[in-house]
Amino acid sequence: MSSPYDQPQPVLGAITDRGEKIMLRAAEMRDVDAILTACTDPESQRWTTLTPGYDRDRAIGFVTGYAPGWWAGAKGAAWVIADADGAYAGQIDLRVLADPQIADVGFLTGPAARGKGYMTAALRTAAAYGLLHLGLERVEWKAHVGNVASRRVAEKAGFTFEGTLRAYGSKDGRRVDEWIASLLPADLADGTTVEVLA
Ligand SMILES: CC(C)(COP(=O)(O)OP(=O)(O)OC[C@H]1O[C@@H](n2cnc3c(N)ncnc32)[C@H](O)[C@@H]1OP(=O)(O)O)[C@@H](O)C(=O)NCCC(=O)NCCS
Repeated sequence: MSSPYDQPQPVLGAITDRGEKIMLRAAEMRDVDAILTACTDPESQRWTTLTPGYDRDRAIGFVTGYAPGWWAGAKGAAWVIADADGAYAGQIDLRVLADPQIADVGFLTGPAARGKGYMTAALRTAAAYGLLHLGLERVEWKAHVGNVASRRVAEKAGFTFEGTLRAYGSKDGRRVDEWIASLLPADLADGTTVEVLA
């Protein structure tokens, strides 16, 4: 039986609430400097599993190994969010969990690109793609308790807040509580489609 993973990872189009066209595409070597900036940013370091030692080699490894690995392993996708000029603005991963009908998301926006609605549009698009094209029945969002910007993005993207998972995450060697929300196929507006550009 044919699988979406038999084809290259798709390039997806999206439009922000302000009407800006963005794209979810594969990571490329030209993104390395911007990935390094985004992943060493203090807010990224504070709210994600990224560690202080993040360096250029890790950014290169993201482009050459980590990002393409999700699609190559039929375990989801990792996209770079590109602005209307095609430049890196952020990144979003859709990661299939042990249950193949459930994936979670991980994302960050580069510091200069925040507050423009990019992640809201990217999350809507990545989640809808997973639900409509990858056979997912549930996409989960989780964040360390207190990450209000991330929670706002999830809510704007239509996710339903489900509560707090006590000591579910870890940060700097400590257990931390996490918020959880989800999006199901029934949550998608009637007629939802995803623009597949390539
Ligand atoms: C969370 C993050 C990805 C949001 O990306 P973004 O592209 O700026 O998201 P959007 O522009 O689509 O939406 C951001 C929303 O959060 C709101 N927001 C931002 N900072 C906020 C804060 N400190 N308190 C409350 N709301 C906040 C914005 O106002 C906006 O909501 P609005 O449209 O209702 O005004 C970005 O801030 C980031 O990369 N943070 C660091 C990494 C991170 O936390 N990743 C997620 C881990 S779960």
